[in-house]
Amino acid sequence: MTDFKEIIAKQLEKMDLGLSFEEIYKLIEIPPQDNMGDYSFPCFSLAKTLRKNPAIIAEDLAKGFDLDGFEKIENLNAYLNFYVDRKVFEEEILKEILEKKEKYGSSDKGNGKNIVIDFSSVNIAKPFHIGHIRSTVIGDALRNIHDFLGYNTIASNYIGDYGTQFGTMIAAYKLWGDEEKLKENPIKELLALYVRYNSEAANDEKMMDEARAEFMNLENGEEEATRLWKHFKEISFNEFDRVYKMLDIDFDNYNGESYHSEFIPDVLEELKEKNLLVESDGAYIVDLSEFDLPPAIIIKSNGSSAYITRDIATAINRKKVYDFDKNLYVVATQQNLHFQQLFAILKLMGYDFYDDCKHIPFGMVSLKDQTLSTRKGQVVFLEDVLNKAIDKTKEIMENRDSKIENVGEVAEIVGIGAVKFQELYNNRIKDYVFDWDEVLNFDGETGPYVQYTYARAKSVLRKADFKENTEISFDNITSDEEFALVKALGNFKDVVAKAAEKYEPSLITRHLTEIAKNFNKFYNACQINVEDEKIKEERLALSYATSIVIKTGLGLLGIKTVEQM
Ligand code: ARG
Repeated sequence: MTDFKEIIAKQLEKMDLGLSFEEIYKLIEIPPQDNMGDYSFPCFSLAKTLRKNPAIIAEDLAKGFDLDGFEKIENLNAYLNFYVDRKVFEEEILKEILEKKEKYGSSDKGNGKNIVIDFSSVNIAKPFHIGHIRSTVIGDALRNIHDFLGYNTIASNYIGDYGTQFGTMIAAYKLWGDEEKLKENPIKELLALYVRYNSEAANDEKMMDEARAEFMNLENGEEEATRLWKHFKEISFNEFDRVYKMLDIDFDNYNGESYHSEFIPDVLEELKEKNLLVESDGAYIVDLSEFDLPPAIIIKSNGSSAYITRDIATAINRKKVYDFDKNLYVVATQQNLHFQQLFAILKLMGYDFYDDCKHIPFGMVSLKDQTLSTRKGQVVFLEDVLNKAIDKTKEIMENRDSKIENVGEVAEIVGIGAVKFQELYNNRIKDYVFDWDEVLNFDGETGPYVQYTYARAKSVLRKADFKENTEISFDNITSDEEFALVKALGNFKDVVAKAAEKYEPSLITRHLTEIAKNFNKFYNACQINVEDEKIKEERLALSYATSIVIKTGLGLLGIKTVEQM
């Protein structure tokens, strides 16, 4: 298969620019505007070595540049712009898609290397609330993307099932727990107990001590504390499983905080041996001033371990078990400091793999007019949001008078897809407001819009009784609309690779929106079901190729498609 970027890079490599093939390849851009060509090579980085103004370099390079598969090559300011030979390009791209089908865009670049992805990581006895959805959905997408590129991913749900808050929960349950109520509405009841305890303990130092003591009991394996904790865990998992099923997301392991606490004594031993543990006011800390970071508390003054202590143990254990190439933490920006400290400590301990550990932060979601804090008890349950998405989608579909039989099933796929798409639409670092009208707008840049485009392409194929033909040639796909669509399909590969490199699934989400827009423009501009059999065949094949890429792309985002909607 022809890689047009590769052709360009090979040619430029021969020109002694002082850059390697890989460096050149990486620099080649896909310009946002048509008047800048189909590929573009910025000459800025050559200015130093060639000691010339980059615009002059581009001008010189453009002269006498001749390449197979390209129609023209010209310079614009400091850019060398390449215009592909449309016919060659279209033929190449479309044939590749039709041949590789759902594998189009995939690669074996990852070479089976292990990537641990720590995501979702919900907390026991706490609601699976809308705030968790980002980690869950972004993490799942990153997992799919890396699988697609030949990595071996280990989806790890680092369950928050340890820490002082369980002391609070146990203490609260001992005071006011009611098994009947707990059965009826487990998480809501546990949350109510937690909130009540926190608010009463705010003015009562004794209650705070009591909660801490209960956590110590748990760490020491005391029977009653352990029994209650296990009970909370079981109830919570029943709830989580339901939500994960709805989302169709699963994990390779649920090894969370308590699982890894077993390794804490070794970590403490090691920290002591390496002279990293310092006593401070009865607590033990690691000094991180050389990194310009505040010290990390490893052992609290009451003797219990901290969140970061468990994370140190976890990272070391993960390296041992998986010998990971990367260890990714898909966690909100609020924990930036935590991860800076964690990686700094690993570095101090002499673990080179600290550099392969990456925090993949994301901004906050807020629901229009609602805040999302657990401590205050105002929380929006994710399950309720998903159910609402399904109901609303059903309503919209019924109002649209669609003639689909399995409305329920379709509404589930479209409703949940809409929520996921929305989560993955924005650059992950941005905070954003979840707004129903936006999420479910069938005409906006939304999941339903892309899914609808897919269904439309499939319906065109059905109506025309489309049959695949591997011998097809493309001679009539000549309009701007058709070319724009093929180009968007062709760039899919690049976009997927970039999404992995930047850990940014939103690049795919946006690109799918582009593809859908381009398909709809093509659909409106070019009649597909025409008399001329050859033209019809080519346009149908283009529609088919579009449906393949959309389905694959949505699949990477964890979103399903429907054949009709
Ligand atoms: N359970 C934590 C929370 O809800 C997130 C855990 C992230 N992963 C980790 N290894 N620290 O805030």
